[in-house]
Order: sequence, then structure tokens, then C-alpha cells
Amino acid sequence: MPKKLYNVAILGASGLVGGKILAFLEERNFPINTLKLLASKRSVGQTLLFQGKPITIEEATPDAFEGVDIVLASAGGSVSEALAPEAVKRGAVVIDNTSHYRMHPDVPLVVGGVNEEALLSHQGIIANPNCSTAQLMPVLKTIHALAGLERVIVSTYQSVSGGGKEALDELRAELAHDFEHGQLKGRSDAFAESTFDRQIFKRSIAFNLIPHIDVFSEDGVEAGYTKEELKLIHETQKILSLPNLPITATAVRVPVLVGHSESVTADCSRAVSLESLTQALKETPDVVVADSHQGYFTPRETAHTDPVYVSRIRKDTSNPERGFNLWVVSDNLRIGAALNAVRIAEALVRLNKVAVPKARPSF
Ligand SMILES: NC(=O)c1ccc[n+]([C@@H]2O[C@H](COP(=O)([O-])OP(=O)(O)OC[C@H]3O[C@@H](n4cnc5c(N)ncnc54)[C@H](OP(=O)(O)O)[C@@H]3O)[C@@H](O)[C@H]2O)c1
Repeated sequence: MPKKLYNVAILGASGLVGGKILAFLEERNFPINTLKLLASKRSVGQTLLFQGKPITIEEATPDAFEGVDIVLASAGGSVSEALAPEAVKRGAVVIDNTSHYRMHPDVPLVVGGVNEEALLSHQGIIANPNCSTAQLMPVLKTIHALAGLERVIVSTYQSVSGGGKEALDELRAELAHDFEHGQLKGRSDAFAESTFDRQIFKRSIAFNLIPHIDVFSEDGVEAGYTKEELKLIHETQKILSLPNLPITATAVRVPVLVGHSESVTADCSRAVSLESLTQALKETPDVVVADSHQGYFTPRETAHTDPVYVSRIRKDTSNPERGFNLWVVSDNLRIGAALNAVRIAEALVRLNKVAVPKARPSF
């Protein structure tokens, strides 16, 4: 029987994640009949290459989804809020990279290789987790299976590409501005407030780090957390089906181009040796474990590769029987976004789930 081919659309094709989705569809030879590239009016008429041929970007409108089977969406939450239901109404399954639908009870939140079984009950929209959540999932799933997670503490060091192409442009421009205007020449000048005209970041991102990603919450016990931190907490609980897992987070933007890093402390409910934990992580798909303490991973050295890299695995000296510290690094545009989206599409094909159920919730 000939292989079934699908009509695919990338919503947000001109963006950082959209561009990587395009590359992964080609690299992984996804079974495509037609491919539509959609973005805002600003990009209409630009072309991108797919399998060596130029495809022209069209404006993302509801009617653009006519005849489409699979939409890979990464154009921001408000765009998904408006357009994902329109695509589903027209019979397309939407794999959404934005945060808009992640916690919706009828939307599976999926990391390939971790909880693909959640796809079996999809209602037309499937969500990809936040990049900082996604890279943690294979690691935490393995630790939970081995020794039971009792509590998790995460501090993130998130690269600027996690904020999209305009954030990357702003880091580059501010670095160039600081060099050009001599901010870095003398010791006192080095600490001076930049005169750079910022549009994206609230504070200087050049030669700095910012403990503030997304907006602050003012709600109850979550007051003072950023939405980025709350995403990591709630999405982890949903993906691992551990709604009561005690987990807390601090999310920090750092002037790294690509690659998120995370310091993770995991308290387990059962005693387990460092050797067993390291061995279990070595056997986890998509995870690469450092061979020695000296062999730790950094985002610059691992960017543009697919795995989740785990190093600095050690006992927590304050809880040596059941506590561990780890350093987890991964390219945020890959497992954290585009690669995961394409793997979800592949899983839908494998599970014969590229179809919107007739009775579906109104998203
Ligand atoms: N970057 C990451 O590591 C990462 C990881 C996980 C999830 N995400 C999520 O993925 C989404 C995209 O991120 P990104 O980093 O790729 O951002 P980006 O580089 O800024 O790209 C945004 C894309 O959305 C399109 N867009 C914006 N407004 C639109 C509109 N009104 N109608 C149609 N298209 C519109 C843009 O088109 P134009 O070029 O025409 O403006 C562009 O293609 C965000 O929701 C983000 O939170 C990002």
C-alpha cells in the first residue's frame, strides 16, 4: 500500500521555532503531500526553501487551513487562541507550541518519548510544553520510575532565543552598542546602566542576567512567581501525571544565544545509589550523561544538537540518602520546541490519530 501523505501547515513559519520545524520536516522525511507556510502580513511573499524548492509565505487566516491535515503552530498564544479552533473546525489537528492551551483539560500536553499515550485521547489540539519543561521530562520521568519523586527544585538559565527572533536581535544589538559606546572600557563604566534603547527586555540582557521571564503572578501563594516559573511547575505535574508533585522554580534569562540550562535538585521517596541513578539516566532515550565530573556540558557546546545533556550528577549533601543535584542542558529550539512538535506529528501518524473527533469540545 502506498504511504499516506499529509497536507501540513506551519503557522509562524518565519519565526525561530517555525524555521526549525521546517528543517525537521525535511530532515526527518515527514510524509508530506502539500506544505503551507503561514505567518503575519509582514512576511507575506517571502520564500523559504523546502527540499530545495522555494515556498511562498501566506497570511495566516482561518481559510488558509482549508484542506490541511496537520498544523504545527508557533506564532504566539493570541494567534493560536484565534486560529487553532478555526483550523480544528476545518478538520486539521493542531500541534501548538504556545502556552495558550497547555493546561486545558481537553488538550494533551506531550513530550515525545515521555507521554505519547496522551495523544490517544486528543480532541484536535495537542500542546507542546514550555522549552524549560520539555528538557526536564525524560530526566524526571526516569528518576520517578527509579526512586519516586518526593520534591523537585529547579533554577533555569534560559537562552535569549527562547524569547524569539526579536529577543535574539536585541541581545546582538545591545552587545554591539555597549562595545561601540565604550561601556566596557573602565571598571566603573562596566557597571553603568546601558544607554541602549531596549524594546524587548525590561533590563539590559548584554553582560547581565534577568530573573524575570513573562509576567509576574499576583495570585495567592503564587504571587511573586513569574508565569514562566508557573508554567514549569504546572506543566511538569500534568505531563508526569503527578498533580500533587511538590515542585518549585526560579527562571532566569541569560545572555546565551541558544540552549537552556537547569540546576535541578530531586528528592526521592526511596533510597537509591548515585551509580543506579546515573545508570538509569544513561539508559533513558534522548538523554546523554557525562562520563565524569569534568565532562560537564554547556549550552554553547551542545546547541544545534538534539539530546538532553545531563552532568554534575551528585548527592545532595543536605539529603545524601535520597537527594540528588543535576545540571541539565538542551537546545531549547529542538526537544524544547520544534523537534518535539515534529515528533508528536510522527507519533500521530504512527497511532493513526491524524483526525479530529466528530464530537469535540469547543476550544
Ligand atoms: N523559542 C523557543 O525556544 C520556544 C520554545 C517553546 C515554545 N515557544 C513558543 O513558540 C512561539 C513562537 O516562538 P518563536 O521563538 O519562534 O518566536 P518568533 O521567532 O518571534 O516567531 C514568531 C512567529 O509568529 C508569527 N506571527 C506573529 N504574529 C502573528 C500573527 N498575528 N499572525 C500570524 N503569525 C504571526 C511571526 O510572523 P512574522 O515573522 O510575519 O512576524 C513568526 O513567524 C511562542 O509562543 C513561544 O512561546 C518558543
